Amino acid sequence: MIELIRPTVGLVQPRRTSAADFPAGAVLHGYGLPADHDEFLSATTDPGVVRFFEDAERGVGLPDGWVPCTTYWIVDGTAPDVVLGSIALRHHIGTDFLREHGGHIGFGVRPSARGTGVASAALRAALPRARALSLDRVLLTCDEDNEASRRTIESCGGVFERMADTRRRYWIAT
Ligand SMILES: CC(C)(COP(=O)(O)OP(=O)(O)OC[C@H]1O[C@@H](n2cnc3c(N)ncnc32)[C@H](O)[C@@H]1OP(=O)(O)O)[C@@H](O)C(=O)NCCC(=O)NCCS
Repeated sequence: MIELIRPTVGLVQPRRTSAADFPAGAVLHGYGLPADHDEFLSATTDPGVVRFFEDAERGVGLPDGWVPCTTYWIVDGTAPDVVLGSIALRHHIGTDFLREHGGHIGFGVRPSARGTGVASAALRAALPRARALSLDRVLLTCDEDNEASRRTIESCGGVFERMADTRRRYWIAT
């Protein structure tokens, strides 16, 4: 069963392994912030990595334009020491970019774990967490040619709203 775990020291190394599964230079959607976080994380101790995500959740030390965000690492309860992917839940979308293109939730699954329902289960599990943040509905967006992401969002109840340039905008009631 798919579970969402807040970053722990014990999962930092599996999370590094998970990120290493992606091709070099790939954008790790849902894995953290800011954009150069992998360079930062590789130069940071494991407890420092956990503190980084805790600070991001509390909105401490965020770069300009970033909002408080909870990161969950996706694991299968039967093999809880393997990080399958990551999901980022932004507490609000109070910037022009997030309101139009970014949305509340980003997610990514390591290539070796794709196509087995991980993303759909993780996104479904994230919805009550969003509700606990008083979000009645969440905005998700995906590139128009990202069929896997589109189908993930739609399978979790995403209702298409409109295009924003080349991105499809969806709302999901939590
Ligand atoms: C998008 C992504 C998270 C999907 O992860 P996943 O665990 O493989 O997804 P699931 O197995 O839960 O499948 C979800 C749906 O996508 C479909 N799907 C999965 N891989 C697919 C592919 N390569 N092509 C087309 N559809 C695909 C599944 O059939 C399923 O659709 P269904 O519910 O209609 O049957 C994963 O491909 C990924 O990490 N991509 C890179 C990052 C990314 O694009 N993130 C989203 C940013 S908006």
